[in-house]
Amino acid sequence: MANNTYDNDFPIPSPDDDKPDPNLRNLDYSEDVNVGKIHESILRENKEPREGMEPVPLWLLAVIISFIFGCGIYLGLFWGGFSATAYDEDTRIASSGGEKGKGGGANGETAVAAGDPLQEAIKLGKRQYSNNCASCHQPTGMGVSGQYPPLAKSDIVIGPERHLLAVLLNGLEGHLTAQGVAYNGAMPAWGGNMNDKQVAAVSTFIRQEWGNSAGPITPEQVAAARKEFASHPAAYKIEEVEALPTTPIPGGTAAPGGEAKK
Ligand code: HEC
Repeated sequence: MANNTYDNDFPIPSPDDDKPDPNLRNLDYSEDVNVGKIHESILRENKEPREGMEPVPLWLLAVIISFIFGCGIYLGLFWGGFSATAYDEDTRIASSGGEKGKGGGANGETAVAAGDPLQEAIKLGKRQYSNNCASCHQPTGMGVSGQYPPLAKSDIVIGPERHLLAVLLNGLEGHLTAQGVAYNGAMPAWGGNMNDKQVAAVSTFIRQEWGNSAGPITPEQVAAARKEFASHPAAYKIEEVEALPTTPIPGGTAAPGGEAKK
């Protein structure tokens, strides 16, 4: 039967070969086993797991969902209107396109403490004061006797705008007597470190704090004063300050409490 054999010598029964092949006579071709039954167990098995297809544990799912949920709550509370000016010191001008400068925000349409420009300046000034001035002049404004003169009831602070701005923008040095105590220190110049708005705010703050009551100072006035004092780059002496004109600097506002008029 060489012609009916494959290369591996496995004998294949030939259809036209009626006689039983002596080689195959012990083989039984009738099936007495149920093939489906044999494979049942294989069908019952889960599929072989594949990398990357593992199911996410429930607890992890819960953690992720509550994290996203928490982010949503946070965003809901602090979204700030997605406004680029949410942390701008000058929310009033930014949120009203500069229009409100004259109205004083009396209609209160902008939410962020935009009520009163004066209150806003004082708030900003208070921050400036604690950052830049309180270390010497003390949070109480009382200074340190013999070293840093008090700002409470200081003639310079509540006096003519020009006098105060000269001290703040250019600094002050040399002998002076304040409220009966002699000083001979050096007050740093702030003109280079603070912008007009910040100088105006801190001036307004110290003019209205600790029982002081002098009118606010506007950024426009600070800008004008900067130009005036540019010819005097060094620190002032108290005699020079007191010799400066006492007339108001243009661009100011009315007395405290009054509407900005410009
Ligand atoms: C490093 C300490 C120091 C810091 C900070 C400082 N000052 Fe002074 N300040 C002085 C000294 C010292 C004098 C007195 C100068 C002198 O003796 O000639 C003075 C004087 C003054 C005066 C004049 C007071 C008067 O009655 O003659 C004013 C106003 C003033 N400072 C405001 C401020 C403000 C506002 C700030 C913050 C922006 C500030 N100072 C920060 C040390 C300081």
